[in-house]
Amino acid sequence: MSISPEIKKKCSDLREQINHHNTLYYVYDAPEIPDSEYDRLLRELQDLEKAYPQLVSPDSPTQRVGAQPIKEFGEVVHALPMLSLGNSLNEEELAGFDRRVSERLGTDDDILYAAEPKLDGLAVSLMYENGVLVRGATRGDGTTGEDITHNVRTIPSIPLKLQGKRFPSKLEVRGEVYMPLKGFEKLNEQARKKGEKLFANPRNAAAGSLRQLDPAITALRPLAMISCGLGIVEGASVPDEYSEILEWVQGLGLVISPERAVVKGVKGCMEYYNRLLEQRNTLPYEIDGVVFKVNNIQQQQKLGFVSRAPRWATAHKFPAQEETTRLLGIEFQVGRTGALTPVASLEPVSVGGVTVSSATLHNMDEIIRLDVHKGDTVIIKRAGDVIPKIVSVVPGKRPKNAVKIELPEECPVCGSAVFKEEGGVIVRCAAGLSCKAQRKEAIKHFASRRAMDIEGLGDKLVEQLVDEGLIYNPADLFILQKDELSSLERMGEKSADNLIAALEKSKNTSLARFIYALGIREVGEATSQSLASYYGGLRKIKDASIESLQQVPDIGPIVAENIVNFFKQADNLEVIDRLLIVGVDWLQQEISRQSMVFSGKTFVLTGTLEHMTRDHAKDRLVALGAKVSGSVSSKTNYVVAGEKAGSKLEKAKKLGVKVINEQELIKMLG
Ligand code: IVH
Repeated sequence: MSISPEIKKKCSDLREQINHHNTLYYVYDAPEIPDSEYDRLLRELQDLEKAYPQLVSPDSPTQRVGAQPIKEFGEVVHALPMLSLGNSLNEEELAGFDRRVSERLGTDDDILYAAEPKLDGLAVSLMYENGVLVRGATRGDGTTGEDITHNVRTIPSIPLKLQGKRFPSKLEVRGEVYMPLKGFEKLNEQARKKGEKLFANPRNAAAGSLRQLDPAITALRPLAMISCGLGIVEGASVPDEYSEILEWVQGLGLVISPERAVVKGVKGCMEYYNRLLEQRNTLPYEIDGVVFKVNNIQQQQKLGFVSRAPRWATAHKFPAQEETTRLLGIEFQVGRTGALTPVASLEPVSVGGVTVSSATLHNMDEIIRLDVHKGDTVIIKRAGDVIPKIVSVVPGKRPKNAVKIELPEECPVCGSAVFKEEGGVIVRCAAGLSCKAQRKEAIKHFASRRAMDIEGLGDKLVEQLVDEGLIYNPADLFILQKDELSSLERMGEKSADNLIAALEKSKNTSLARFIYALGIREVGEATSQSLASYYGGLRKIKDASIESLQQVPDIGPIVAENIVNFFKQADNLEVIDRLLIVGVDWLQQEISRQSMVFSGKTFVLTGTLEHMTRDHAKDRLVALGAKVSGSVSSKTNYVVAGEKAGSKLEKAKKLGVKVINEQELIKMLG
């Protein structure tokens, strides 16, 4: 059966559209259509290819996962060896590197360097022939790598077909495949829930994912690639600056580093290094340093290589974020929902410039999995977030008198029985709010900045108030007397007055904040906002059935059940009634679809605002349907710049995102 030209055209149009939107999403971080529309296009193409199987070709976006797992990895000999990098451990060594470069080039001018983060992943080579991805390979020993074509094809940010009309007959792009931190944590969380082995770090997870015989497994792993060099190029002339080569590669549909920059001399390199070191823990991936490359390609060629590394590049490593230390003991902390979390106390050690003396262990299963004993020498790591964690035990270093860690049989705070949740790995104290620890956490949460925002009521003070027996639940806060407060340690008359004023002020709140402040299990800020918008009033939320709750965006059966259970409990209802009686109140929002004027719009707030705090601005925007994000991307619609706005404002200007000032914001908010 022959296929009509219309069908063929439809098919190639769909592929072109899908590839185009893929590039907008992954390469430019600027999608133009919602995910649902993208999925619809892909489904249309799939249906068409199903109806006309002759149309299927390997570079079709539907063909990311091949039909069959491979039996073994083939070998790939790199036509140009994949090199390694020399290191600079400090400013002195970097200056030495720069001096050698200048001397060899015979110049007194400052050298221009292309600077990029050193991603902690795996070096990979991609070969494109006439614009089509034909092979992916690992670095291996630099000369021979493994053929991982079937796996790189599943990585969404790697194009199966280059963008544009003119591409080299042969192009080898080299880069780093890595696993973003969010994806890594999610993957490990799933493994933890299933009791499977965890990956020690994102690098291992990326490596393990690329070394799969079955691409269907790799496809489930959140991998990405950033390009940082070329191998063979035939049938095209490339730009003569590395920074321009990168942009050329980007134009072909590959992702390049958003943090890239061109810097001048050692001074520029050090500024870049320090800036990235500061940003390190806010980046969405792990980096272990920065790489500097002489930007001019002619200069690169003049410099050449020593053994297996180029003379024109150096890696300036960051301080390690892993250290070893001794585990002194484990304390079980009781959280707001009664969950017992083991917290390790450690012999203090400096990790990446910060002294660490405790680390989280997630739950009891983690203790069993790691097989940690009191007295063990452990490897700890600070990454992404600030809370350090124990990665592993150093097996050879266990002392004779090491003590196995047992799960407590009763709550370490109130002595009530603990129970293990069905199917789950979480152990909880069964006492609810009659457990002092849970009471304290519930009240701390109630008072916190994003909840009732009771200024001056910090964690320490809540603990004091509960310990002294002055309060049992959040409602008790509002009947505290001045003399009760001023009799507390470290509390004068002035602070007592201030706290009472702050409590008074906090009574004026919003429904969303109030719901969030109640601390219903798994009901965070976003869910509270959805509940407030959907129902518009507390009574309706209290009376909602599980079925009704599941109609609310983002609420599934488990959260719905948590909500219904919460409002079933008499003591919860009593606290709510008392809060309303003492005068906690919110403006009845007229919530209709029309009032969600900012729905679908993303705002970023930066700098100091004069007439309101950033938190209040955020509340108002969210109440009108906006999303408020912490970082600027091309998806941002408005950046609100207050006094002393810094890098976010710069980024907005660079990306051409609309910038408004506080006055304009106030006008928009009406
Ligand atoms: S350039 C000759 N740029 O680091 C150029 N490498 O230690 C060699 N790496 O094998 C590679 N980020 O796996 C380059 N921005 C970056 C990099 C980077 C990470 C890795 C790469 C390489 C290793 C060398």
